[in-house]
Amino acid sequence: VAEPDLAGRHVVVSAGGTREPLDPVRFLGNRSSGKQGYALARTAAARGARVTLVAANASLPDPAGVDVVPVGTAVELREAVLSAAADADAVVMAAAVADFRPATYATGKIKKKDDREPAPITLVRNPDILAEIAADRARPGQVVVGFAAETDDVLANGRAKLKRKGCDLLVVNEVGERKTFGSEENEAVVLGADGSETPVAHGPKEALAETVWDLVAERLG
Ligand code: C5P
Repeated sequence: VAEPDLAGRHVVVSAGGTREPLDPVRFLGNRSSGKQGYALARTAAARGARVTLVAANASLPDPAGVDVVPVGTAVELREAVLSAAADADAVVMAAAVADFRPATYATGKIKKKDDREPAPITLVRNPDILAEIAADRARPGQVVVGFAAETDDVLANGRAKLKRKGCDLLVVNEVGERKTFGSEENEAVVLGADGSETPVAHGPKEALAETVWDLVAERLG
């Protein structure tokens, strides 16, 4: 039985991957399964927290005792996370959020008129939800955690991202085979704004989730 060190706390976790619709049949998406975010939600609930799980397109069963808010796009995810974060002690952004969305939504299926014509898709930038939450904390002492998948210079890129986003903790993992997307396992380093570096050995996504909550609990005091 887990120690209820998050009892009386409200935590918000985002999970899955956003989908940005182009027309009634197409979207821009990513490979996030939602498994890491769901593991975070389950473990936080087991440690006594009230959990809001903002789930973007994850086809996973609702974890018991967790308040699940389903969303589709980055804009919807932002609304749901900001609203739940208003009284949250911690916000963990495990979702893969699309950096861009189509500038317009075509109500009819987009046709290819001419094979030589470039695809008629214009993109606009999505809001950076993590940076926004970190810059504008809904309550003092709120702990904000981000995730970053990197393919190279993992630690250097992670440090730079932690600073740019202004979060307290950043979980960085290397994207590769048997790791990260869709897999049951993960391997990561959790970087702290205080300069700390906590490696998490290759293992189940639950193990990484427990380490994240250990570090969050430490910061909540
Ligand atoms: O910049 P990058 O996408 O690598 O950062 C990843 C982190 O930022 C994740 O925690 C993700 O949930 C969050 N993010 C966000 N809003 C975006 C893009 C990413 O909150 N538009």
